[in-house]
Amino acid sequence: MDTQTIVILDFGSQYTQLIARRIREQNVFSVVLPCTALLAEIQAYHPIGIVLSGGPSSVYDADAPDADPKLLALGSPVLGICYGLQFIVHHLGGKVRPAPRREYGHAEVSVEDGATQLFDGLPASLHVWMSHGDEALELPSGFHRTAVTSNALAGIANEQRRIWAVQFHPEVHHTPLGPQLIKNFVFNICGARGDWTPAHFIESTVAQIREKVGKDHVICGLSGGVDSSVAAVLVHKAIGAQQTCIFVNNGVLRKNEFQNVQKNLRDKLGLNIVGVDASARFLEKLAGVTDPELKRKRIGAEFIAVFEDEAHRIARETGGPEGKLDWLVQGTLYPDVIESSSVKGPSQTIKSHHNVGGLPERMKLKLIEPLRDLFKDEVRRIGRDLGMSEEILGRQPFPGPGLAVRILGEVTPERVALLQEADEIVVAEIKAAGLYSKIWQSFAVLLPVMSVGVMGDQRTYAYTAGVRAVHSEDGMTADWVDLPAEVLKRISNRIVNEVRGINRVVYDITSKPPGTIEWE
Ligand code: XMP
Repeated sequence: MDTQTIVILDFGSQYTQLIARRIREQNVFSVVLPCTALLAEIQAYHPIGIVLSGGPSSVYDADAPDADPKLLALGSPVLGICYGLQFIVHHLGGKVRPAPRREYGHAEVSVEDGATQLFDGLPASLHVWMSHGDEALELPSGFHRTAVTSNALAGIANEQRRIWAVQFHPEVHHTPLGPQLIKNFVFNICGARGDWTPAHFIESTVAQIREKVGKDHVICGLSGGVDSSVAAVLVHKAIGAQQTCIFVNNGVLRKNEFQNVQKNLRDKLGLNIVGVDASARFLEKLAGVTDPELKRKRIGAEFIAVFEDEAHRIARETGGPEGKLDWLVQGTLYPDVIESSSVKGPSQTIKSHHNVGGLPERMKLKLIEPLRDLFKDEVRRIGRDLGMSEEILGRQPFPGPGLAVRILGEVTPERVALLQEADEIVVAEIKAAGLYSKIWQSFAVLLPVMSVGVMGDQRTYAYTAGVRAVHSEDGMTADWVDLPAEVLKRISNRIVNEVRGINRVVYDITSKPPGTIEWE
């Protein structure tokens, strides 16, 4: 069955991704394209509807983002939101001007009697979120008002041309009945079936992977995290033994992680995994290194070297006479894709870390990115449908350079072992308190700062463990978690009693910014 798609054109609003999510929550697929997308790119999706997002500009600004106005005549129903409304008015012969009273924040909207099917089932008065300084002064011909606030226009429509628009943001939580409005557009106006379910996604993705790959052999770099694991399981469902996953122990994984990941994915789900224990190689490269950036670089370079060795070996074994591999599986997610094609250009601020950066070019590998249309929570839903355990799907993020950026100063095998023990206690206690899934990241840090203590009758002089737990939406900003004192007490008692070599525990109460989530 064809996938029905709603195309969202992005005019630079901070809420554009939310529009995509609200539509997908109705089991309807949606894609975000930059507003500069060509008509042919939009048509390639055979969209059942088009949404024009908000944006920070005014349509009369010299550098205002613009789209091809012919999209309004494609025949697909259009919903303009905020800037999208002004775009419609501006291009169809109406007039937009700066509002005498700007409206930002909460507002009450009155829906005109029997206004239009976009407001079906909604009350006459709506609480909404506004965020724009312009208003439509004159409507293009054929349009009528559908809603107003006490001092401005809030909605317009031209049913004949199949164009609807609202000045407020139905996609944000501050518009409590926004989902109903989006449902009206998606189902009643666009005629969506609502069949974009995990099962549908898995079925169509599996078919695409099979067609793309044919009889070729594929490699996948497993990190143990959610994205690469789900990508690998999906590819496994498609082509089974034609995929070899490479999982490298870089010596700075968490306690038992090397074994657990393999157990979960190989023993339980049947993936073909080559576990490469390269701890000694990595720890050798880290000896004597204290600079955080140098640690990252050494680990990154060594990772590529190990991965490439393995890939070549696998190629010789599986790739036929020329020993050739064609494909590399990557767990790229949709936010990265949108980010790199957004009207605002690639973001400067997002820190990305690709474990196999540069490898596809060097080894001339083509990419399979089965998750590039999905948000993180959608990836988890797919993973659940694929029968993966919560232990994998519920994992907090873990940095590529692993415990190396949580051991301040030099990384030695002894220090890694100490931190693994302390970290395991932090995670276990947070899980026991039912907090693990509510927290972005929670972990221990090893500080090579010695302090004096007493254990039994003995004087100790040992390291300090830092405990870090943060709430975050995207890792860009973070707040420290106000962990219950009882949990902190148990963590502290257990670390000091069970980890010989640590005699003091401190709790990190720094938000980001100024303090990054990882200590290095
Ligand atoms: P920071 O420490 O910059 O971290 O506040 C933000 C988020 O990114 C993760 N992080 C990394 N992930 N390689 C990664 O794969 C890295 O080098 C790296 N550094 C930080 C961090 O765990 C947090 O979720």
